[in-house]
Amino acid sequence: MLSRALGTVGPQVSALGLGCMGMSALYGDADRGEAVATIHAALEAGVTLLDTGDFYGMGHNEMLIGEALRSAPAARREQALVSVKFGALRDPEGRWSGYDGRPAAVHNFVAYSLQRLGVDHIDVYRIARVDPDVPIEETVGAIAELVEKGYVRHIGLSEAGADTVRRAAATAPISDLQIEYSLISRGIEAEILPTTRELGIGITAYGVLSRGLISGHFTPDRQLAANDFRAHSPRFQGDNLRHNLDLVEALRKIAEQKGASVAQIAIAWALSRGEDIVPLVGARTRERLTEALGALDVALDTADLAAIEEAVPAGSAAGERYPSAQMAHLDSER
Ligand SMILES: NC(=O)c1ccc[n+]([C@@H]2O[C@H](COP(=O)([O-])OP(=O)(O)OC[C@H]3O[C@@H](n4cnc5c(N)ncnc54)[C@H](OP(=O)(O)O)[C@@H]3O)[C@@H](O)[C@H]2O)c1
Repeated sequence: MLSRALGTVGPQVSALGLGCMGMSALYGDADRGEAVATIHAALEAGVTLLDTGDFYGMGHNEMLIGEALRSAPAARREQALVSVKFGALRDPEGRWSGYDGRPAAVHNFVAYSLQRLGVDHIDVYRIARVDPDVPIEETVGAIAELVEKGYVRHIGLSEAGADTVRRAAATAPISDLQIEYSLISRGIEAEILPTTRELGIGITAYGVLSRGLISGHFTPDRQLAANDFRAHSPRFQGDNLRHNLDLVEALRKIAEQKGASVAQIAIAWALSRGEDIVPLVGARTRERLTEALGALDVALDTADLAAIEEAVPAGSAAGERYPSAQMAHLDSER
């Protein structure tokens, strides 16, 4: 497995990370046994970065990863690095009620995560959304205390804008910014990516398949459960969905010429954007994982990249990447 560095201060990780969110929440039901088998298969294939959030299924995802790590061969478990997001507040019905980045809350969140994961430290720890009521210096400063105490190894950020990234980096060393980046979500290229590059901060890119929309597997007649994020995502609605799936068909022609799948082309494109970018793929079955890992064998030359840009020009997607209430929480979109 190829590896990449998470920024100048972060660890070396596999070039593709496994995002485990969909194994517990947000994309409808998932099969627990298959999810554990997928994590094991990823570790076996050399994936060393597992991404989660303490709010994915209200701790379910961390407990799932804990179970998978405990039942993995020791050599694989020892290579695995776990990246955890915290701070999202939810109620028993799963509704979202804000973010909490106060230092006391950070120390509280980590104590529960360590217990659920069954580990003595977390490799990368980050607040999921910048808390508008708490200066980022205080939140990052609290994680830096956890680094000093050995409970956390590296400090990350999530969906932070360029100014916040600068302020965070002036407070403590930052390994990576986790943020949505794909063929149809290229907002980071204007200001955020130049800033992370200037500061030597890596990118863990999520939504590389735009939550399945540009995977080549999503069909317009797919029924989505009410608790599936995509049932409410602007890009998956009506005319927007039809338009976006037309872009996928344009991409499919290129994929066929390359002897690759659409998902592999989308992931290979993200990999091609720079050595500082580590795509997190959201595979929750071994079949999808195998497909995603195949992207590492897809070489895109200049002509391929030009054809991809022509098929899916920057900014060509219809619809925002989150519903408006959630867009408002994105420091990266200010
Ligand atoms: N920091 C943040 O704000 C944030 C936000 C969202 C996610 N994340 C992290 O990033 C990770 C990845 O995000 P994501 O799940 O939205 O990304 P994604 O990889 O764009 O989407 C995953 C979806 O794509 C579908 N898919 C189809 N073919 C696939 C293939 N070959 N490999 C993988 N998935 C395929 C999956 O399908 P099926 O429906 O068939 O399973 C799943 O529904 C998450 O697991 C989470 O850890 C972070």
